[in-house]
Amino acid sequence: MNQILPLVKKLSDTHSLELSEYEELILNRNSESERQLRNLAVSVRHEIYGYDVYVRGLIELSNICRNDCLYCGIRRSNTNCDRYRLTPEEIIACSDEGYELGFRTFVLQGGEDSFFNDDVLGGIVREIKARHSDCAVTLSMGERSYESYKYLRECGADRYLLRHETANREHYMKLHPQSMSYDNRMKCLHELRELGYQVGCGFMVGSPYQTVKTLAEDLKFIEEFKPEMCGIGPFIPHKDTPFHDYPSGTLELTCYLLSIIRLIHPPVLLPSTTALGTIDPLGREKGIMSGANVVMPNLSPVRVRKKYELYDNKICTGEESAQCRECLSRRMKSIGYEVVVARGDIIR
Ligand code: 5AD
Ligand code: FES
Repeated sequence: MNQILPLVKKLSDTHSLELSEYEELILNRNSESERQLRNLAVSVRHEIYGYDVYVRGLIELSNICRNDCLYCGIRRSNTNCDRYRLTPEEIIACSDEGYELGFRTFVLQGGEDSFFNDDVLGGIVREIKARHSDCAVTLSMGERSYESYKYLRECGADRYLLRHETANREHYMKLHPQSMSYDNRMKCLHELRELGYQVGCGFMVGSPYQTVKTLAEDLKFIEEFKPEMCGIGPFIPHKDTPFHDYPSGTLELTCYLLSIIRLIHPPVLLPSTTALGTIDPLGREKGIMSGANVVMPNLSPVRVRKKYELYDNKICTGEESAQCRECLSRRMKSIGYEVVVARGDIIR
């Protein structure tokens, strides 16, 4: 009666499907396949990570960016964007505050801002690692040279997030200006891996021109690359970008894909993203209940939070860091999970 349930079983048993089977799984999504995938994903997540939820303190260093990704609110061409850049001292202060609040991973994220060259960024990484030696530092600072990645790794950076955005070359070209290339994106990911970073890739769900085929390619890429981390969240239009009129990705498809990714690569660190919390008031809870195991509350100073607007109506732009952390702990408790004080490395 249901063609799709044997695929669910195959995925759960072998952690692998053919491209055409991933397509079928997405195309024939129904309430029964959603339920089964969710149950299987949650149960393998519990085997590995129990009911622990890892937190990452997200520090948004700068919204100045030399790139012009068509979907992104801080793209260079957006003249309505009110630009800011934190000073190294402010960034260090955020990490100190975060440490007191129980964060043991700091994610330094920002646009591709030339101010954060190797000297400056490396100095910040060194300082955070010196002050908080039991913490992991994750960078999410875009495409850089091999030498730069190497140097930052030597400075102590542990992890690097660089979403691949789409594993389909033609699709990649529709989301990015000509100056950016799919090949360079993939090259960066492979170099990061070679340098010993724990690497995160990822993509937006429901981005313009995304198809069932490109999504299947994303899943195949994840199956083969086996990233330590994988960030997926719904595309949300930003009013000052060329994609302002495109619809958002959905909660349902995002959660479905979270479950699938958990089954493809059981140990993966999988955040329930802020974007998911933005399209649904209980989005992050629903992400966790679909197999995600990480949340990334904001540690940036309150005055810059609204300015780091990759998409419209981003949540958590008002509260102070302590409130963000407490709010998330409470939310996770309400669904039977616990935010833990730990670096939260991948468990193999
Ligand atoms: N909607 C959702 N996610 C977005 N990102 C950028 N712009 C948007 C948007 N409009 C995601 C990209 C990027 C990450 C930092 O944020 O996938 O890699
Ligand atoms: Fe800054 Fe895409 S707009 S990296």
